[in-house]
Amino acid sequence: MARVKILDNNAADATALTAVEDVCTTLAMVGVDYERWDLSRVSETAPAEDVLVAYRDEIERMKQLGGYTTADVIDVTPDTPGLDAMLARFDKEHTHAEDEVRFILCGRGIFFLHGNDQRVISVEVAAGDWIRIPRGTRHWFTLCSERQIRAIRWFQQTSGWTPEYTDSDVDQGYEPLCFGPVFVGQRATATIAL
Ligand SMILES: [Fe+2]
Repeated sequence: MARVKILDNNAADATALTAVEDVCTTLAMVGVDYERWDLSRVSETAPAEDVLVAYRDEIERMKQLGGYTTADVIDVTPDTPGLDAMLARFDKEHTHAEDEVRFILCGRGIFFLHGNDQRVISVEVAAGDWIRIPRGTRHWFTLCSERQIRAIRWFQQTSGWTPEYTDSDVDQGYEPLCFGPVFVGQRATATIAL
């Protein structure tokens, strides 16, 4: 269940919103889409290929929604080789040339979303959360203390999947609310062509 906070004045003690309607309404303020999906159809440890089959209908629905051409499953654990080297890529405010779309299968992470009105909204994502951050949205990401996340990712064009840093230093003013280094990296375990 996602936990959303509006961080006016970097209020770490801001009230966390968890009701799906509240999460959707708050994220819509920064143009971000959110859904809750069923988790029961596949186990946390199922092979990536099985995950992609289990969620084939949703993967196809996303293709229709946003023109995504590929999807994969990413697994990150504290033992992921090169994790620390990759962490810093995503904890600085950046944008992408394509949408950042994730369905969380297990683990936790937190996105910080920097809207056009300068407001920063944090959203902690966990199993069952689907989120779409439109291309061009200023954001950064960190893992929670477990340093673990498993997620389906969608891509419009893999060439666009690089962070474009804003160098704003806005990220410097926000403590990770669930702690842990940063990563949403590239260790895909399977890819499916749509
Ligand atoms: Fe990103």
